[in-house]
Amino acid sequence: MPPKRKRGSGNDRKRNTSNREESQSSTTLGQSKAAFGRCVYVSDRYEKVARIGEGTYGIVYKAIDKVTSRHVALKRSIPHHQADDGFPATSLRELQTLRLCSNHDHIVKLLDVTVSSRKISGQDGGGSGNVFFVFEFCEYDLANLIDDYYKRRGRSPFDIRAVKTLMSHLLKALRYMHSRCLIHRDVKLSNLLYCSKTGMLKLADFGLSRPFAPNCENSISLTPTVASLWYRPPELLFGAITYSQAIDLWAAGCIFTELAFGHPVLNGKNEMDQINKIIEYVGDIPGMNGDDWPEMRDLPRIKDGAVKVPAASSSPRRLLDLCSNWSLAGLRLLTSLLEYNPRKRWTASYALEQSEYLNGAEQPPYTSAEMPRRFL
Ligand SMILES: Nc1ncnc2c1ncn2[C@@H]1O[C@H](COP(=O)(O)OP(=O)(O)OP(=O)(O)O)[C@@H](O)[C@H]1O
Ligand SMILES: [Mg+2]
Repeated sequence: MPPKRKRGSGNDRKRNTSNREESQSSTTLGQSKAAFGRCVYVSDRYEKVARIGEGTYGIVYKAIDKVTSRHVALKRSIPHHQADDGFPATSLRELQTLRLCSNHDHIVKLLDVTVSSRKISGQDGGGSGNVFFVFEFCEYDLANLIDDYYKRRGRSPFDIRAVKTLMSHLLKALRYMHSRCLIHRDVKLSNLLYCSKTGMLKLADFGLSRPFAPNCENSISLTPTVASLWYRPPELLFGAITYSQAIDLWAAGCIFTELAFGHPVLNGKNEMDQINKIIEYVGDIPGMNGDDWPEMRDLPRIKDGAVKVPAASSSPRRLLDLCSNWSLAGLRLLTSLLEYNPRKRWTASYALEQSEYLNGAEQPPYTSAEMPRRFL
């Protein structure tokens, strides 16, 4: 995989089925001896080959597992506070979520947790006591893959059948997380990995994930400044502090457009620009007095006047122009994910079961074995 390239500018992408599919795997942390015994020193077992990614909270290396001779990805967390704050909160969240979800086909597999060696402090990256998560290695992240391909070819590397497959893999991962009362909160292209050997998409990076209480009207009180700007749904842009797993589905809608077109569409430069982009492409936000989304009036940034929702005009709905050659079923899925009212937005489970686009006989999704392996 080529070194990670940042897409866009500013904080756009940064933070501020079947029983078989969901069956247990014997190689996940839950069953591994390392989870119960002494932590392995990273350099005793893994040899770093290259640095492949650096995000807000982690540095990721490609490495070789000296025991199995397989490639793995090592993620070292970057402490964002003073050392005496202890284990970074994002890493703790990531670990908690992975322990519950890492046995799913479309969620990156956590193989081990290791620490840097005290004997050779400094060599493993930043001194002793660092924790490294060891993941299965995936050849691509979809942000890099799509950006690089678009630069060379001016289109998406994926045809319509492959887009359907990737969307159904993503929705299966989300259905699984949401059924376990967990929201990802940072679904974006660079957090979607593609294993070309198996033709499978894997959802990754659970540093912002949080549990939610299903009985509290499907909402939790949390910070609205989650989800990278380009993938942030209207309710968060309007300052909602209670929100639901529906935020992940809006992001899935944004991913759908990027997979299909090969470039981001809702790529605002700041929050106001993002809101304007959404209106320009998706259409007018249901009016203040309309019944389509009555809860909108009470959202903090609407109430205090910080965000002014334009009166219903005739917004160009540019997305419809961009998708003029799409089937009705494709449009239905897209508009049902990019639905303003989070209560009306399709759930992952509903989309997987009801979408004619994903389930219809015409141009059906590829099986994983039929998915592209190389992108020339
Ligand atoms: N298992 C893996 N296999 C291959 N590459 C990986 C793997 N995990 C992560 N990467 C690469 O490292 C990058 C950063 O990883 P990750 O998203 O987990 O870290 P992060 O610091 O939380 O990121 P950010 O804040 O940018 O979202 C990914 O975008 C991807 O390019
Ligand atoms: Mg990431």
